[in-house]
Amino acid sequence: MIKELEKNDLIRINELENSFHYVLKDIKSDLTNNPFSHYLLFIENNKILGYLNYYYMYEKLEIANFNVLEEYQNKHIGSSLLEYLISKFSDVENITLEVKESNSKAIHLYEKMGFNKVSIRKGYYNGIDGILMEKKMKSMKDIYILGIESSCDETSFSIVKNGCEEVSTVISSQIDIHKDYGGVVPEIASRAHVKNVTFVLEECLNKANMTIDDIDAIAIANGPGLIGSLLVGLETAKTLAWLYNKPLVPVHHIAGHIYANNLVKKMEFPLISLVISGGHTELIYMKEDYSFEKLGSTLDDAVGECYDKVGKIMDINYPAGPMVDKLAHSGSHTYQLPIPLDDDSYNFSFSGLKSAVINLVHNEEQRGNAINKENLACSFQDVVCDILTKKTLRAMNELNVKNLILAGGVSANLGIRERFKILCESRGINYTFPDIKYCTDNAAMIATAGYFAYQKGIRADLSLNAYSSLELK
Ligand code: KG4
Ligand code: ZN
Repeated sequence: MIKELEKNDLIRINELENSFHYVLKDIKSDLTNNPFSHYLLFIENNKILGYLNYYYMYEKLEIANFNVLEEYQNKHIGSSLLEYLISKFSDVENITLEVKESNSKAIHLYEKMGFNKVSIRKGYYNGIDGILMEKKMKSMKDIYILGIESSCDETSFSIVKNGCEEVSTVISSQIDIHKDYGGVVPEIASRAHVKNVTFVLEECLNKANMTIDDIDAIAIANGPGLIGSLLVGLETAKTLAWLYNKPLVPVHHIAGHIYANNLVKKMEFPLISLVISGGHTELIYMKEDYSFEKLGSTLDDAVGECYDKVGKIMDINYPAGPMVDKLAHSGSHTYQLPIPLDDDSYNFSFSGLKSAVINLVHNEEQRGNAINKENLACSFQDVVCDILTKKTLRAMNELNVKNLILAGGVSANLGIRERFKILCESRGINYTFPDIKYCTDNAAMIATAGYFAYQKGIRADLSLNAYSSLELK
């Protein structure tokens, strides 16, 4: 039988026959002094026929020592011990061990049990090589992140599994409340968040058929955004983390927009992300998961802001982006507009383009000419596409990057998507766009980014604050 030894088994060990006396000494000292060291014994008729010593710490499992009495080898004792360990720890990522290169019997057994050689330590055992072996475990534990987003006018909660599988998302939008004002009114936004927050959380958990106990960590977008709105989400996140003793993971709002792509397709690195939203226009380089390097950004208005202001002059309600996009598709490029900041930098500027559209409309009005909205929207969108694609593709070329993702509210724009699609396909660039429903603000993107932040060990305590402006690092 296989027996797991614990500290209070020390007396029993003395009763066992002393076939491994050197081991018994180790076991006694280990069980007393090393909380990470554990022993499995194979016992028959009060005699230890084999043992397996493993270290289990911080969810890592390593086989430290493994032996079966010479005369009992080839009787499945070794494989029984290994099988026991493997089934007991089915939720660890992998099991590792090191073995002498000359011990071909052991190597053979490990290989039979699914271990692979991963590297060699030259001359590690008095001149004999050590072989590092690893068994990747099939069933990695699933990680569920609860994401919270309240940075502007959406109250949203979402549960995402393993950073790629959406379990449930609820978004309560305040667009109708702010419509009459032509933009988001911060004070009204925070009050609406306070009213919504508990209902949205409850609905999200119900939809997932889960309770907070099933959640591994809480990811909160703590900036940038409207400070009053951010604080409502942050206080909710902190309360849940404290009450249910869950790790709190701060997530930058833009990291969220970027990671919305991981819900579509596993992101491949290195990549460049063009972030285009109501508050941001940025080119970000990512060498690997959760590493962000800003290449350039807008010097004034964001693209989404420009869409909204251009829409306003055409009497389109806030947020005007989707309608301008729609009009553009039924128009032609007839109006001459300047290409903004067409230089060698990776920065953008949209206030000049916005002013050019406003001036054009005023001039035409003064001349008594009617504006063709479809043609104006098309001319404007063409210029936006020209500069966005030009700078993005130059960055990809100069940095020799072959993966592109779009992110943010404006990445829902069908004209911009179409232009990037054609250009990427003709250049052999892999591209991903977020799902249309997750281009604008939502918590699924925060939970997804939160998973990668969590895996990187990013945590916050209850002193975490919210910030209206925050650098993406
Ligand atoms: O990402 P988001 O929800 O908010 C920020 O984090 O800033 O983006 C909202 C912005 C608004 O300016 C809206 O007009 C714009 O995204 N937008 C669009 C489209 N859909 C939303 N702009 C252009 N074309 C669209 N189809
Ligand atoms: Zn956003």
